[in-house]
Formats: sequence, structure tokens, C-alpha cells
Amino acid sequence: MPDGVVAPPRPVTPSTILADELAAICRQFESVPGADPALIDRLRRSRDLAAGMDPYLDACTTTESPALAELARRTRSADWSTSTAGTGLEQEMLSGHVEGQVLKFLVRMSGASRVLEIGMFTGYSALAMAEALPDDGEVLACEMDPEVARFAQECFAQSEVGRRIAVAVGPASETLERLAAADRQFDLVFIDADKPGYTGYLQQLLDGELLAPGAVIAVDNTLMQGQPWLEGTTTTNGSAIAEFNAALTDDDRVEQVLIPLRDGLTLIRRVDR
Ligand SMILES: C[S@@+](CC[C@H](N)C(=O)[O-])C[C@H]1O[C@@H](n2cnc3c(N)ncnc32)[C@H](O)[C@@H]1O
Repeated sequence: MPDGVVAPPRPVTPSTILADELAAICRQFESVPGADPALIDRLRRSRDLAAGMDPYLDACTTTESPALAELARRTRSADWSTSTAGTGLEQEMLSGHVEGQVLKFLVRMSGASRVLEIGMFTGYSALAMAEALPDDGEVLACEMDPEVARFAQECFAQSEVGRRIAVAVGPASETLERLAAADRQFDLVFIDADKPGYTGYLQQLLDGELLAPGAVIAVDNTLMQGQPWLEGTTTTNGSAIAEFNAALTDDDRVEQVLIPLRDGLTLIRRVDR
């Protein structure tokens, strides 16, 4: 990639992976001498159906604020290959426009004023939720990586609502322990950190009484690129999400729905009290 040219995000959601696969299959068939033109036509329609959905969702969703657009631009142009060794941060982690707008809707619809985020990265989702909060509301965002936490805080400082975001740097499980010990409660929780940690975070939220009455939990990446239902492609994250989804289905303290937004967003609420 030449200097100054930003690499486009890799396909990391079921729909973008499907679109990528269909484009490759199309190219392959187009180069086969004597291939059935009707079949190629159907393949092209399938490719375009898959590839056009995300841009259409973007186009039909309220435009993001200038502060969110700038945060996304800075995230895309940063060189993540030099970030804190071994943490695997990459631009594809950013939730983005449509999911950010969904999170803003959740904040408004639930009337939340105390929001907890587990996994902040450069702060896109934290800032989106902060934009929807009342002026005295707060997003408490947990982030393990101090460098990326600083990056996010620089972006928050450029926004009028950045002061509504408090950042807790360190392993989220330890932050949750401290919050439970301090009797803190939240109206909305967004879980978007290490996938193998998800089951533990949910247990801490439920067992530690961290949820206010009527609280909603939103959990990202619960489709995990299709790995929970595809054979032969499972990674550690894929297995963790498959286990999390199965445990959730068996947990009668909660009810949930998995929405096929980007890489999957599960909404959960407590029903046992
Ligand atoms: C997918 S990104 C979050 C994306 C962000 N919510 C957004 O919308 O842009 C996951 C983040 O979780 C952080 N993380 C991973 N493990 C963690 C842990 N144990 N505690 C706190 N943060 C963690 C990573 O450093 C990374 O920044």
C-alpha cells in the first residue's frame, strides 16, 4: 500500500464475507470458457445483492455527527501495526455508523443515563452513546490498552459531549469487581471486548447486581463471522461466541434476541425479577 493510502477494512461480518466470496466465485466463472451466461447473470445478481446491502443501510441511516466521522477517519488512518505489541488492535474493531446509530437509539429508547461499555477501542460507540445521553448522563468505558484509551480521550476532547465519558483503563473484569463493590448500577451495558471474556462479564453483571431495574445489555459480534454455524472455520473467538450464545439460550434469568446487524448484536434483559 503506497504511503498515505489507507487500506479499506477487511470483510469481518457475515454479509461482507459473503459478498467477497460471491465476487470471487463470479470472477472465477466469468473466466471459464463457455460458462452458462444465465448462471453468470444469477451469480452477479447474488453478488450485488450481498455487496449492496451495507452501503444501502449506511445511506438510509441518519448521518453521523462530525465528531464521530472524524473519530472514524482518525481510526482508519492510524497505523495499528505499531500499536501496543500483541494486543491485535485493528481498524476493523470500530463499530461504525449504523451500529453507532442503533446504540444511540437504545440509549434514547431506554431512557438510560448510566451506561457501561466493556471494550472501548478508539471510542466510536462510547461517543455515539454519549451523544444520546442527557447532559448529566455518563458512559463509563472500560479499556485494557492504555495507548488506545489515550487515542480515544484525545478524540473525546474534540467533542462537546466528550466530558460525559469516563474511561477505566485495565482488565474489564477487575473494573466490574470494583464497580460491584461500590454498588454502582447501569441502565445500559454494551459488551464489545475480548470474546472469551463475554460469559464471565455477563455473570459479573448479573451476580454483581450491576444492572438497574429494566436494564438492557447489548452484546456485539454474536454472529462472529458465521463461525458458530459454519463447519471447519472455528477460531478461539468463534468457539467463545458459540458457547456464550448457547449459555445465554439456557439461562432462564434473561431473555434475548440476536439481531443480524454487522457481526451480530444480541439484546438481553433480565426477566427473573
Ligand atoms: C472490538 S474493540 C471495541 C470497539 C468499540 N466498542 C467500538 O465500537 O469502536 C475491543 C476492545 O476491547 C479491548 N479489550 C480486550 N480485552 C479487554 C479486557 N479484558 N478488558 C478491557 N478491554 C479489553 C481491546 O483492547 C479493544 O480496544
